[in-house]
Amino acid sequence: MTELLILRRKNQDEKPYWQRFNYDPKSTDDSVASALTALNEQENLRDAEGKPAAPIRWECSCLQKKCGACAMVINNRPRLACGARLSEFKGVVKIEPLRKFPVIADLMVDRSVMFENLKTLRLWFESDAKGKDKAMSVSYEASRCLQCGCCLEVCPNFHIDGKFTGTASAVPMARLLAQLPDSQKKAMTDKYRLHVYEGCGKSLACRNICPADLDIDEILLNSNAIAVWKRFF
Ligand code: SF4
Ligand code: SF4
Ligand code: FES
Repeated sequence: MTELLILRRKNQDEKPYWQRFNYDPKSTDDSVASALTALNEQENLRDAEGKPAAPIRWECSCLQKKCGACAMVINNRPRLACGARLSEFKGVVKIEPLRKFPVIADLMVDRSVMFENLKTLRLWFESDAKGKDKAMSVSYEASRCLQCGCCLEVCPNFHIDGKFTGTASAVPMARLLAQLPDSQKKAMTDKYRLHVYEGCGKSLACRNICPADLDIDEILLNSNAIAVWKRFF
């Protein structure tokens, strides 16, 4: 069945606009990433109305749901393009860039704020990490984060210029809180409280959205308990 892809496009300073493309899937396994790749492989790309169209700008790397580069909004839900099968969408697929970040071009966005937050908050181990079994399981779960930004897309409280850094930084913080020695835990708890706990509305809109299937409830609950416990003692 021919799929209709409706893309939100933008080139530098021009206004965004919608453009429609027809795509005939090669197999039932075709993903949104396969469709975008195949369209761009056409020598003279034309839209569904037959007008010449510029190549579609988007990002990918692994094409195996491992790097997070291809995150975009697909039929109103943040997804990885390489993990979204066309067969899920009943013939019409609306594709937009993530909306919380500045658009560079078409489906490419500037997600550098996420990586700057990791640097500013120093979210890495500076010496060997140790931990008991429970800490290791939280830490292992958190280490699977792709930094794709899908959780920030659905978060009502995250804004790129705000103090609240959202789930994408709460996850690496949880890893550190679970495994840092007690002598270093206070500084990380203070950061968590200031940049996550106090800004988070606890709506859990970010649950069930993570393409890596991280258990966001468990990760946030674990860190929130540490943040609150420190207040009482
Ligand atoms: S927690 Fe999940 S949705 Fe959020 S950045 Fe990490 S992988 Fe992406
Ligand atoms: S619980 Fe709500 S406010 Fe907190 S990180 Fe998730 S979506 Fe954002
Ligand atoms: S290209 Fe790496 S997750 Fe899609």
